[in-house]
Amino acid sequence: MQEPSAAVPTSSPAVAAVVVLAAGQGTRMRSTTPKVLHTLGGRSLLGHVLAAAEPLGAGTTVVVVGAGRDQVEQHLAQVAPGAVAVVQEEQRGSGHAAAVALDAVPDLDGPVLLVNGDAPLLRADTVARLVEAHRATGSALTVLTAEVDDPTGLGRIVRSADGSVRAIVEERDATPEQRSVREINAGVYIGDAAAVRRALGRISTDNDQGEQYFTDVLGLLVEEGATVGGHVADDPDDVLGCNDRVELAARRRTLNDRVLDDLMRSGVTVVDPLTTWVDVTCSVGPDAVLEPGTQLRGTTSVASGAVVGPDTTLVDAEVGEGASVVRSHCLGARIGPEATVGPFSYLRPGTRLERGAKVGAFVETKNVEVGEGSKVPHLSYVGDASIGRGANIGAATVFVNYDGVAKHRTTIGDHVRIGSDTMLVAPVTVGDGAYTAAGSVITSDVPPGAMAVARAPQRNVAGWVRRRRSGTPAAEAAEAAENRAGAPSGGRSDASRTDTEQ
Ligand code: UD1
Ligand code: CA
Repeated sequence: MQEPSAAVPTSSPAVAAVVVLAAGQGTRMRSTTPKVLHTLGGRSLLGHVLAAAEPLGAGTTVVVVGAGRDQVEQHLAQVAPGAVAVVQEEQRGSGHAAAVALDAVPDLDGPVLLVNGDAPLLRADTVARLVEAHRATGSALTVLTAEVDDPTGLGRIVRSADGSVRAIVEERDATPEQRSVREINAGVYIGDAAAVRRALGRISTDNDQGEQYFTDVLGLLVEEGATVGGHVADDPDDVLGCNDRVELAARRRTLNDRVLDDLMRSGVTVVDPLTTWVDVTCSVGPDAVLEPGTQLRGTTSVASGAVVGPDTTLVDAEVGEGASVVRSHCLGARIGPEATVGPFSYLRPGTRLERGAKVGAFVETKNVEVGEGSKVPHLSYVGDASIGRGANIGAATVFVNYDGVAKHRTTIGDHVRIGSDTMLVAPVTVGDGAYTAAGSVITSDVPPGAMAVARAPQRNVAGWVRRRRSGTPAAEAAEAAENRAGAPSGGRSDASRTDTEQ
């Protein structure tokens, strides 16, 4: 984070600075996490507000922190390293918070956007229109408002006969007549820095909560003879705050609806929008299909024509064109074009499937490249390995990568056939075109083209069941079979031995 003084801009863009008020306790969340760090759609509440203001290109961004300040500052360093965190030691109200912010940038003048930190549905377009309305009317301050069906708990906009804004009245301080107003304060304002500073200097705590309300700035400016404007948001959802977890869930749903609507309009099939969740940070190409129960999170991208789901979670994953991922959980995996995953598989970070590769049912992978057209069809663990092209890994193969202290790598060549239930004890290399016999424990390298057999020879103890388990259904079945054949049954004799002792 920069020093406050270093961030003061020299030119005069449409907005000189953005101030986010984010010091409040958020008591109603009943959480040890500061309110503005709760997340929806892949970003924190604060992250959404910063993203909406970002396109303004303001030279200075100030975030007022207080409750949980260490956590908020740490988060800011990640999501907005250019922002300046300013500490409001005591939460004495939104007006006090704004004053603390402006005191930290004393040289700043020109238009300043002030935003509550808990408005996660605010969109860049809406902010841009507010800024434009402010510029066009030349008001001292313009507040973003919305017409809502239920204004409960929100500040009401009181307008004069000429349509300009006269004041904002908080619900707890409002007269019954003012309470019936359905135009509310969104908590997003743009005002001339000098005018706002002046009004903040005169703000009182003469209200029901004994706090310094930023909203009083409007009435004070009007008293001075300045003009205050109110710009009505096109979509009232944009201005919805978030004060408890019920509201958080409602905002999350609204945000998700927006993301899915945009995807569907861009050509993505979303089979069941109610059970599909996509972060604002994900991308999905046209003609991709998201089946019910799909969650796309973080930086996940799904290319066109891919099918994801049902019941699949992808976090920071990349899915190529025409690939399919069914009932699986993938973290940081890259799934190449035409590759297939699932059902019921777990792909962990470092997994990379080349074109047309397959990771089938009940397979866990980590840190592995699976070459073009290679297959791991069933019930395997594949970790710390590279697999060449056109290879097949038999069912229930385990890449034994961990000796209890360190991880080791396995290298599988092109067109290798690993037999079912093979243990590949790393570090180990299986050369191009080699085979391993089912049930082998491979501890040494296998040269190209060899068949590795590493298992105990089979021993059949003839008649054992009749002698040692007599009277059981197994013994009866064996006896019947022997009688039919006229001799004790033998079975395969190659590489095995039939004993008669015991
Ligand atoms: C505020 C507005 C209200 C508006 C509503 C929109 C005030 C007095 N009222 O009410 O008119 O309709 O938002 O959602 O502003 N904050 C600080 N320091 C403080 C107190 C608050 O930084 O000492 C921050 C909070 O973190 C929050 C913002 O200011 O982001 C607004 O505070 P909050 O308590 O949420 O105000 P509301 O009651 O929601
Ligand atoms: Ca609020």
